[in-house]
Amino acid sequence: MTASDVLTVHGGTPLEGEVRVRGAKNLVSKAMVAALLGDGPSRLYDVPRIRDVEVVRDLLELHGVRVRDEDDTLVLDPARVGRAAVDEIHVHAGSSRIPILFCGPLLHRLGHAVIPDLGGCHIGPRPIDFHLQALREFGAVVDKTDRGLQLAAPHGLRGTKLELPYPSVGATEQVLLTAVMAQGVTELRNAAVEPEIIDLICVLQKMGAIITVHTDRVIEIEGVDRLDGFTHRPIPDRIEAASWAAAALATRGDVTVRGARQVDMMTFLNVFRSVGGAYQVDDAGDGGIRFWHPGGELRATALETAVHPGFMTDWQQPLVVALTQARGLSIVHETVYEQRLGYTAALGQMGATIQVYRECLGGTPCRFGRRNFTHSAVIAGPAKLHGADLAIPDLRAGFSHLIAALAAEGTSRVHGVNLINRGYEDFEAKLAALGARAER
Ligand code: EPU
Repeated sequence: MTASDVLTVHGGTPLEGEVRVRGAKNLVSKAMVAALLGDGPSRLYDVPRIRDVEVVRDLLELHGVRVRDEDDTLVLDPARVGRAAVDEIHVHAGSSRIPILFCGPLLHRLGHAVIPDLGGCHIGPRPIDFHLQALREFGAVVDKTDRGLQLAAPHGLRGTKLELPYPSVGATEQVLLTAVMAQGVTELRNAAVEPEIIDLICVLQKMGAIITVHTDRVIEIEGVDRLDGFTHRPIPDRIEAASWAAAALATRGDVTVRGARQVDMMTFLNVFRSVGGAYQVDDAGDGGIRFWHPGGELRATALETAVHPGFMTDWQQPLVVALTQARGLSIVHETVYEQRLGYTAALGQMGATIQVYRECLGGTPCRFGRRNFTHSAVIAGPAKLHGADLAIPDLRAGFSHLIAALAAEGTSRVHGVNLINRGYEDFEAKLAALGARAER
C-alpha cells in the first residue's frame, strides 16, 4: 500500500447529483470470455474501465485474441487464438476469479487450458469444486498444479446432465460456456438465474447457441459445431447502482443513477422503500433511478441475502451502512458467503452498534448455521458515526467503508482504496461530482 492508496474523506456532506453506471462488471468480463468461442470478431458496448476488465483483456491477448478499443466499445477478434506462454498466464495469479471461466472455451478452441490461481475478494473460502466436477463430467481431464489448473480434452467435450449442489453464478456460467459447443445436449439443474446470467445467455444466443431456460432453475443447452461473434450492449451494473443508492440514503442525500434499471433491482427497491428511502424510476432517454433520503428517520428492517430473485449479497454491505442510521434493530442474515460481515468491525470503530452472530438469524436456516461462521448481524440505530482510520478488506466492503466515511462527522483516512477500482469505474470523479469532499 502506498500513500497514493489512501483517500482522506471529510464526512457529513449529503451526496447530491448524478452518476452513470455502465455495463455490469459481472457480465462484461464473462462476455469477453465468450468472445473466445466465436469464429468472427465480437463487439461489446459500454465497457467500464475497471481492473477486472483489464485482467481478462490481458489473458485474452495472451491467447492471441486481438482486442481493440473504440471509445467505450471493445472489439475482440479471436481469429488467431493459440496457446499462451505458461509463465505469462501465471503472472495473473490472484488477480481475479474470471480466469476459471476460460476452461471450456480454451478446451474447445485448443484442446488444452492453463488457468492461474484465482483471486477475488476474501469473503469466504470460495471453492471451485462445482466447476471442476462439471468440467470432468463434460469429459475434461483436470489436474491441479501448484500454480493453478491444467486441463485437457483428449476426446472432446460431450453434453451431460448436471445438478449443482447450490445455484452458483460462476459454476452456471462455466457450464454455459462449455455446453454451447459440447457434443449433444446438456441439462443443468439448480442453475443460477441472476440477470447477468440471462444476459450471458443472450450473448451466447446471438453467437448461435441454442439455450432454453425452463422454470425451476433448469437450463438446457443444445451443443452446436460453431459460433459467430456477437454485438451486445450489456446489462447495467446493478451492484454499483445499489451502492450509490445506499450512499444517498446513508448521507441523507439525493443521487440519480443514470443507466440503472428497475427490472434488475426490484428486490433492492422494495427494501430501500421499506427502510424509508425514496426513489423514482425515470424511463426517459437512457433511463435511470433517482434515490433520495426524504427526511425524518429511517426504519429498521430484517433481511436475508439470497440467490436471485432474492436480495443480492453484493447489496448487503452498502445497505448496512444506511441501516446504522435507521431507528431500531435491523437483522441481516448473509446466506451466500460465509464471511461477508468482517467489515462491520470497522463500522463499530466509527460508532455503529453492530453485533455479529454464528446463528442463522433469518427466517430460513442456511448452509452456514452451526458451522462457526459469523454470518448474521444485528444493527442498532440510529448511531452517530465519526471519522476513523479504515483499511479496505475487499471490493464491496471497501465501498461501504467509503460510504460510512462520507456519512460520518469528521475526517477519515481510507487505506487501500485502489481495490475499489476493481469494480467501480472512476469512483473518485463520481464522488467529486456528487459533492463529496475527498482527496488522495
Ligand atoms: N461455491 C461452492 N463451490 C463452487 C462455486 C461456488 O461452494 O464451485 C459457493 C461459494 O463459495 C459461495 C456460493 O457458492 O458460497 C455462491 O458463489 P457463486 O459461485 O455464486 O459466486 P461467484 O460466481 O464466485 C459471483 C460474483 C460475485 C457475487 C456472486 C453471487 C463475479 C465475478 N462474481 O461470484 O460478485 O457476489 O456471484 O451473486 O461474477 C463482486 O462483484 O464483488 C462479487 C463478489
